[in-house]
Amino acid sequence: MWLLLLVALGLIFLYRWYKYSLILDNLTDKYVFITGCDSGFGKLLAKQLDKRGLKVLAACLTEMGAENLKKEASSRLQTTILNVTNTESVSSAAKWVNDIVSDQGLWGLVNNAGVSVPTAPNEWLTKDDFKKILDVNLLGVIDVTLNMLPLIRRAHGRVVNVSSIAGRVVICGGGYCLSKYGVESFSDSLRREMIPFGVKVSIIEPGYFRTGMCDPNHFLENVKRCWEKSPDEVRKTYGQAFFERYYQGVAKGLSMTNKNLNMVTECMEHALTAVYPKTRYSAGWDAKLFFLPLSYCPAVVVDFLLIRRPI
Ligand SMILES: *[C@@H]1O[C@H](CO)[C@@H](O)[C@H](O)[C@H]1NC(C)=O
Ligand SMILES: *[C@@H]1O[C@H](CO)[C@@H](O)[C@H](O)[C@H]1NC(C)=O
Ligand SMILES: *[C@@H]1O[C@H](CO)[C@@H](O)[C@H](O)[C@H]1NC(C)=O
Repeated sequence: MWLLLLVALGLIFLYRWYKYSLILDNLTDKYVFITGCDSGFGKLLAKQLDKRGLKVLAACLTEMGAENLKKEASSRLQTTILNVTNTESVSSAAKWVNDIVSDQGLWGLVNNAGVSVPTAPNEWLTKDDFKKILDVNLLGVIDVTLNMLPLIRRAHGRVVNVSSIAGRVVICGGGYCLSKYGVESFSDSLRREMIPFGVKVSIIEPGYFRTGMCDPNHFLENVKRCWEKSPDEVRKTYGQAFFERYYQGVAKGLSMTNKNLNMVTECMEHALTAVYPKTRYSAGWDAKLFFLPLSYCPAVVVDFLLIRRPI
């Protein structure tokens, strides 16, 4: 009986391993557009896919980011400047891509550009602080996706969105988790809408990784700024001691971030090059072993682990 079960499990495992190991032919014909290639996951993925022979169209926020990337890649890779919060910039990038790919269409779109500051307890923030993050991480992603979809449909291609484990468990106040929940919820609707067109969509959910977005100094500076500009009443209620403990806690968390960005870009590469891409990829041990299980726990458990009380 047990043996039978074990054999069945083994066969399922083997089947899944085989299914997900199948890679597409003709990768070198395919165009992939990636946002946020100045640093972090975007830059690494651009170089990785370029090495595999795909035709990478890399969008960077800054000229300097684009120049640096070009130096490290082959002449196949082309760059453009894109500010995802600016509608004209997005539509001109879409036009640039259209001119390059023409009838062949765009094989892959990777929505990677993202920001994580300002993040702090909700009461230390203003509506504008939320807006800053939502503009990039949610509305920017929607705008880029809508502009590129006609090109992707033409190639029966793929959309890969970078969400976060914060799209499963809310780990902090501010717009960051909101934006990632938004990306997750849109993804499910788009995935179903695109199946009839032969377009596949995947979400990547990384845990904590050391990217430009999680640069400790920049992040901590923002926490401090939010605290200092919050109303007197709020500062008095929480108290300086709470702020200091919160700040130290964040600093400690940031120092433990995973530096192995490959874990994430390998998921992205699989989503773009496998015959059967997965719907969701969780990347990093913290995501797999802690946050994902936590997302299935009752609220009391999650609350117990995540509550911070004023001192
Ligand atoms: C791959 O490219 C070759 C030559 O260009 C072509 O004959 C073949 O049909 C292509 N295969 C696929 C799956 O597109
Ligand atoms: C991006 O565009 C927005 C809206 O047009 C603008 O406010 C912002 O300064 C731009 N960012 C950069 C880095 O150019
Ligand atoms: C990606 O995000 C955009 C905007 O949130 C959404 O329209 C789309 O459905 C998402 N796709 C995937 C695969 O997550």
